[in-house]
Amino acid sequence: MAKLKLGMIGWRGMVGSVLVERMKEEGDFECVDSYFFSTSQVGEKAPELSVSETLKDAHSLEDLSEMDIILTCQGGDYTNSIHPQLREKSWSGIWIDAASALRMKDNACLVLDPLNSDLIKEEIKKGTKDFIGANCTVSLMLLALAGPLRAGEIEWISSMTYQAASGAGAKNMKELVNQMGRLHQVGKELSEDGRSDILKLDALINDSLQGRDSQFPTENFKAPLAGSLIPWIDVPVEGGQTKEEWKAGVEGNKILGNSKTSLIPIDGTCVRIGAMRSHSQALTIKLKKPLDLEKFEKQIKESHEWVDFVPNEREITTQKLSPAHYSGSLKIGVGRVRPMNLGKDFVNVFTVGDQLLWGAAEPLRRFLRLYLDNL
Ligand code: HSE
Repeated sequence: MAKLKLGMIGWRGMVGSVLVERMKEEGDFECVDSYFFSTSQVGEKAPELSVSETLKDAHSLEDLSEMDIILTCQGGDYTNSIHPQLREKSWSGIWIDAASALRMKDNACLVLDPLNSDLIKEEIKKGTKDFIGANCTVSLMLLALAGPLRAGEIEWISSMTYQAASGAGAKNMKELVNQMGRLHQVGKELSEDGRSDILKLDALINDSLQGRDSQFPTENFKAPLAGSLIPWIDVPVEGGQTKEEWKAGVEGNKILGNSKTSLIPIDGTCVRIGAMRSHSQALTIKLKKPLDLEKFEKQIKESHEWVDFVPNEREITTQKLSPAHYSGSLKIGVGRVRPMNLGKDFVNVFTVGDQLLWGAAEPLRRFLRLYLDNL
């Protein structure tokens, strides 16, 4: 059988670059004939992985229509503009997308195969054509809780997030580092002097954090992130939630295929912190029955190959259960598993995962392979 034609869009951005690297590592490009599209450098030389020598036009409906599969990390504006036009032209290929634009459409399937491969396969059989990666915090939380979720033991989840700068974009990651650099610059002399007055150092740093330092950069975050945090991510939605907080419930339940009568309430506060590219979450979980700690831990450990269970002990937790440790890794750290004083049927969990890998790129490339394997 001839190989299917895959059109890659947005492959040079941060998520796109991570995705291409993973696809190379896993040999995904060997399973398809790949074409690389561009919004700005049409006609220039394409990467070696490309079948065509030059970059194709990401706005050409004609060129796009020739693809069997389109995989885009170009962002929501591109999806909102191009996807409806392609479908109107009766293009019936498979659209795989990292952006949120189509996620909650009735005819779109959210992909996170360690949790919903059966649902994905059913959707492929039904003729669904749009397969979308979910929000990063949602995917990472569900991967951490896959075992207990599968066992049907969770009544509701409150998720307090500690989200890395990468979720806000490449410019924001740079700004975080530049904020750190500026703080070091203003505090260097006093911080390196072991006998200096700590309150003087603190006052200097506060001048930068509180807007009295014109060289402290806040163009992207609009506030200090280094040395501080921002308890608001994305736009407001109804009821006082942010859109990031709203996504946890709606996307989480959609991935799990829950119907209106079996919805698991998920809510919490989403907070941006000064980590680079791994999101963390502190989860308060209400179980349907009193906690059996040993059984709950076993469900987590045995849920899938990417879980890295961290015992609830001081040293190993300090060393391992952090954004610093899991960045660049496909492992999902899960620890701080313990009963809570809130009641017999509550359990505490802390989880960390790379926002660009399992949080964005990995579910997309895994869907591609699942689709190709099920042809
Ligand atoms: N919305 C996420 C964040 C990243 O801001 O961290 C993309 O899922």
